[in-house]
Formats: sequence, structure tokens, C-alpha cells
Amino acid sequence: MTTRLLTSDEIAKHNSATSCWVIVHGKAYDVTAFLPEHPGGSKIILKYAGKDATEEFDPIHPPDTLDKYLDRSKHMGRVDMSTVTVEDKAIDPFETERQEYIKNMPILDQCYNLLDFEAVAKRVMKKTAWAYYSSGADDEITLRDNHSAFQRIWFRPKILVDVEKIDMSTTMLGAKSSIPFYVTATALGKLGHREGEVVLTRAAAKHSVIQMIPTLASCSFDEIVDAKEGAQIQWLQLYVNKNREITKGIVQHAERRGCKALFITVDAPQLGRREKDMRTKFEDSGTSVQSTNGESVDRSQGAARAISSFIDPSLNWKDIPWFRSITNMKLVLKGVQRVEDVIKACEAGVDGVVLSNHGGRQLDTAPSGIEILAATMPILKQKGLDKKIEIFIDGGIRRASDIVKALCLGAKGVGIGRPFLYAMSAYGLPGVDRAMQLLKDEMEMNMRLIGAPTVADLDDTMVDTRAVALHSTAIDDTLSLKAYDPLAAPVFRSKL
Ligand SMILES: Cc1cc2nc3c(=O)[nH]c(=O)nc-3n(C[C@H](O)[C@H](O)[C@H](O)COP(=O)(O)O)c2cc1C
Repeated sequence: MTTRLLTSDEIAKHNSATSCWVIVHGKAYDVTAFLPEHPGGSKIILKYAGKDATEEFDPIHPPDTLDKYLDRSKHMGRVDMSTVTVEDKAIDPFETERQEYIKNMPILDQCYNLLDFEAVAKRVMKKTAWAYYSSGADDEITLRDNHSAFQRIWFRPKILVDVEKIDMSTTMLGAKSSIPFYVTATALGKLGHREGEVVLTRAAAKHSVIQMIPTLASCSFDEIVDAKEGAQIQWLQLYVNKNREITKGIVQHAERRGCKALFITVDAPQLGRREKDMRTKFEDSGTSVQSTNGESVDRSQGAARAISSFIDPSLNWKDIPWFRSITNMKLVLKGVQRVEDVIKACEAGVDGVVLSNHGGRQLDTAPSGIEILAATMPILKQKGLDKKIEIFIDGGIRRASDIVKALCLGAKGVGIGRPFLYAMSAYGLPGVDRAMQLLKDEMEMNMRLIGAPTVADLDDTMVDTRAVALHSTAIDDTLSLKAYDPLAAPVFRSKL
């Protein structure tokens, strides 16, 4: 490593697969040998060969990545950033329109519910970020049903119950929470906000709710833990690495740093095809011309695929005792999708399951968490297993009435993903703070109106679930009309 400042011209010479340097945060790195190993493929690095890659690097990689994974000898030195000129990007009409929307954003007080954040975020988020956050798998039927399944459940409210005082607090996996939802794990927080997941940590602290830290966070794990306040509770979401020593290291580090539960994601042995994400990345990558020399074109698979190649598809039930042997944290399977597997999870001795389809991002036409819950609890009760395991659900929860329905049906709590990402992307910490407060306000009102002063008073006689399993793909509710993006078709190179 040189001690003198490198210039842009010196770095620009290393602009090929045989010598590839990139600048990240004012430092030059020689990534030539790393090109074939990059989980996101070499093409995306080569696009920035000899240039400043910071903007592309930041949302996808925690800040300690280069120190951890690139040998010191490849850290080439500091760069005189005054010699680096910012490239003029072609004017993108979407970007011009987005800047206009940002200038004219509704003030935060105009957001009255979680769907409002989604509608604003759609307009003000960067195209790639919106595509990654909002996309679901295939035809997005599960994505839409996650939300609409709640609308097929109706309340059966009790009257003349003393509801002067409402207590919505609860415990989940032994930890107190002011309200029965938690911030579920969602990767790549910095795509939406430059500070990333720590924004969610701060909002969760303010509202005494639990945060699940994603394996694939944009911030480093330690940054997210360092941002917690006092006895704030955090859980870890785990994608199991093919290299079990790496997995063990992650899990034990999380336990040492105070995480109270380990949520092993079991619905993603391969990542789903999220076509909006793939299409945006493809269009942005500048590879929209068909290859003519017979060589296969790297049709970039979007942000999701770029970061997930390490996940072990051989993970199976026999691995569960190993997790028990390496940690004392509570063990939860995230992404269970049928009652038979909930029973197996009980037998395997795990502490909980999340009935979830990964926010509609994995197997399309997999059922929603709330539908699985409605089918599962009666069977668990029949078998005397309902008290043996804590059941959580996530997917499509946008109103406190959705939370109430899940609790009536026996869930201990619910996870909420996209709404907090959208609130964060559009309005930062004040946005997430308001989103959480709105849920609390709605929750208080709903508990009062249904006749349940505490969460223990919510039971299955208070909901009518007869229609929950009747699927429809109707898309005529507010969310669908205001924020849902229909899937696009391929773009012609010119208007013929
Ligand atoms: C942008 C995004 C990233 C996600 N990343 C992860 C992840 O890294 N690990 C995981 O287990 N689940 C992940 N999920 C799934 C969520 O934990 C959760 O199951 C889902 O978001 C719930 O649906 P909702 O977004 O409708 O609330 C992600 C979801 C989204 C929307």
C-alpha cells in the first residue's frame, strides 16, 4: 500500500479483467483475483473497473466487507478524490420525475396509515431500490394475497366489555414488547436510506418493539447492535451458509452480542425469481443488446440473486439439533408453510415458527401466513401442541386490524417488513416512528371496538374465517390501485 495519494489517472489504467482496481470510499482496491469469486458475478465489478464504485457498493455490502474479505496486500492506498470526476450520467426520465416528486413530497402528517408510506415511497425511491423492495416472485399472486387474505376475515366484536383501559403489550419468546409486532428481517436497508438498518433500530427502541437483524443487512451486524439502546431486544435472522464454520461464527457472535433468538430462514433454498428486480437491474446494467458472438450474456439477476449464492440448499431437518448444540438462543424456523411442518417443528423442539412465505418473494401461490395460521391452530389445539411452541406470522400486515386478526387466531405476534422500509425510505427515522405510532393508535382503537382490553382477551370466537381459504386475485383495494405496480413487459429498443 502506498502512502502517497493515488490519482484517478493511475486507477483508470486498471480497467480490465486482467487488472481491475476500484475506488470505494476514497480508497483503491485491487479486486482482480476476487472477480471470479464475487457472489454477484464479475460483470458488475468490471462495470466500475478503474472507477469509483462507492455508490453501487454501499447498499449491498456492509462497511467492513473489504477489510474482512480482501487481503491487505490488495488495499492499494488512498485516492486524491479531487482528481476523480463525477461521471455525467445519461438523463433518465424516471430520475428527473423522481426528483420532482421528492421536491413535492406530502408532509409526514399526511400519512395516515401504512399504505400511505408505500404510495409515497413508490414515487420517491430510486428505481432499483423500489424494484428490490416491492417485488414478489413470478406473477406476484402470493404477494397480493398476503394482503388481501386479511380482508377475507371479518370480525365478530363483543359489546359491553369495559374497554376504558387498553393494554396491548405482550411477550414474544420471553421478551417484552409494547405491541405484538416486530420489525422483521429485510435485506439491503441502504438501498432505501443511506443510514440503513440502524434507522429501524432507533425507531424500534423508541417504541419498545423487537427488531430482527437480517444476515444480509447493508450495515454491519455490529453497527446494528451498537445502535441499540439499553435493554432493547434484537433477534438474528440467519441464512445458513454452506460453510458451517461461518454459520457457527455468525450465530455465536450474535449470541455474545446479546441477540435473544435465532430465526433460521427455511423458505429460501433458492431465491425466487423476482422479475421486477431482475428487469430493472437488466435495464440498468447496460446489457440490453443481445449477444451476437454466441457467448451467453450475463443477464444480471437483480439485487437479490447477487447477494445470496452462499445459501445452503441442502439444509434439512437433521441439521436442527446442530443449531441447538451451538447456541442457547431461542430457535425459530422462519418460513413454515404447512401444518405438517409446524408439527415437525414441535417434535424437533424448536421454540417457535414464523408462518410466512417471505413476503411473496419465494414460491408463488404459496398460501399467506394468516391462512396457514387459520388452518394450523385448530390442529395444534387438537393435538395439545398449541402451548408447546410460539407461532408468529408475517406477510401483508398493513393495519393493526390485521394484527388483531392474527392474535385472535392464536399468533403470539406478527412480523412487518416492507411498510417500515417504505416509511424509512421516504421519511427516514421520523417516518418509521410515525408508522409505528399509527399502528399503536389503530391497535388501541381496534382492541376497544372488538371488546378486548388486553391481548389475552383476543380469541378465535372474535373472527369469522370461513372465507379465508377462498382465494381470489382481485386487485381493487387501495393498495393495489395506488401503489401496486403491475409486472412489466420487455422494453423495445426503439418505438417502431
Ligand atoms: C426487501 C425485502 C428483503 C427481505 N429480506 C429478507 C432476508 O434477508 N431474510 C429473510 O428471512 N426474509 C427476508 N424478507 C422477508 C421478510 O422477512 C418478511 O417475511 C416479509 O417481508 C413479510 O412481508 P411484508 O413485507 O408484506 O411485511 C425480505 C422481504 C423484503 C420485502
